[in-house]
Amino acid sequence: MNNKPIYVTQPALPPLDEFIPYLQQIWDNKILTNCGPFHQQFEEALADYLGVKYVCLFANATLALVTALQALRISGEVITTPYSFVATAHSLKWNSIKPVFVDIDAKTCNLDPAAIEAAITPQTTAIMPVHVYGTPCDTEAIRKIAENYNLKVIYDAAHAFGCRYNNQSLCAFGDISVVSFHATKVFNTFEGGAIICQDAKTKAHIDHLKNFGFVDETTVVAAGINGKMSEVNAAFGLLQLKYIDSCIEKRKQISQYYRDNIKFIRGISLPDHQLSFTSNYSYFPVFVEADYALSRDELYEKFREQNVIVRRYFYPLITAFPMYRTAHTDRDNELPNARYISSRVLCLPLHPNLEQEELEKVMAILSGFSKIQQTQKAI
Ligand SMILES: Cc1ncc(COP(=O)(O)O)c(C=O)c1O
Repeated sequence: MNNKPIYVTQPALPPLDEFIPYLQQIWDNKILTNCGPFHQQFEEALADYLGVKYVCLFANATLALVTALQALRISGEVITTPYSFVATAHSLKWNSIKPVFVDIDAKTCNLDPAAIEAAITPQTTAIMPVHVYGTPCDTEAIRKIAENYNLKVIYDAAHAFGCRYNNQSLCAFGDISVVSFHATKVFNTFEGGAIICQDAKTKAHIDHLKNFGFVDETTVVAAGINGKMSEVNAAFGLLQLKYIDSCIEKRKQISQYYRDNIKFIRGISLPDHQLSFTSNYSYFPVFVEADYALSRDELYEKFREQNVIVRRYFYPLITAFPMYRTAHTDRDNELPNARYISSRVLCLPLHPNLEQEELEKVMAILSGFSKIQQTQKAI
């Protein structure tokens, strides 16, 4: 086998020739952005696919998170997770909101509702949970807390495209959910993202905010940003929707292959949340336990030596970055679950383009330092 790199993810791309007619239309109508015809069609198609009513497209999910907080006029303190991609917290910083980091549930890797409740102060205005790896947060407990304390809930659902929970899209929970279409995500538009909100008035307000605050040619209602998705990205998204179900199915098969084989490896454990939901199989996190022959970081290096580019999602914790480090969150006994999970986690390669021999290589490395008790099963 050649030694070409095996990446943790690789974008799923449709056949190039199928994209050309979309480009031709953009060239013909000469509308490149500003919520043109493809933008409109893609919003409608997404709402249809996800089974939601109100979708606002964005150039990326970070701008969508920043705008979501503005749309709901959030200020003061927001309770969020240290175990996420740093953009979750950055969106708060960009709004001069103080992020209050609380611990996660070690089984789901998502915010622990008891920790949320314990951190509420008179300054708290909202909760920003993340459905990490597309695993649902305890949405019911979070809804009740929000209701009791009159807080807004903005879900960072960047990982959750295509996941379903309690008979609806996982992107439909909270006052607002934000999903990412970044190149590394299950569903990509090169760059992109969207807000899913609950009513037409909020959608209209968000649509103004993402367009500099313009309501019409001469009226600006807020210091909005340029968060618009371009026509090329929107057209690409429309085409991508045709392939998303088959991409998720391929991911499911790969996840099952890993699952079938990893169960025989001592010292490697998998998330054990017992939740019933439809996954998008976006990530394959494993935890390197104390009885594995190598530490997590040693295993990470061994993979890299063999050109297998695994990733430590999420390490370091957001609270370790200088702009979020405080005397409080830096104490060794703070955020114990998040610290533990972050020190053990490794995400294995998972994307629809992986070949069987590449999967076998990943498994051979993983099992090479441990005792494997059964021969491998193919997909
Ligand atoms: C949890 C989470 N939130 C937010 C983002 C930001 O998304 P985007 O890259 O679309 O701005 C990402 C990933 O990129 C993410 O993983």
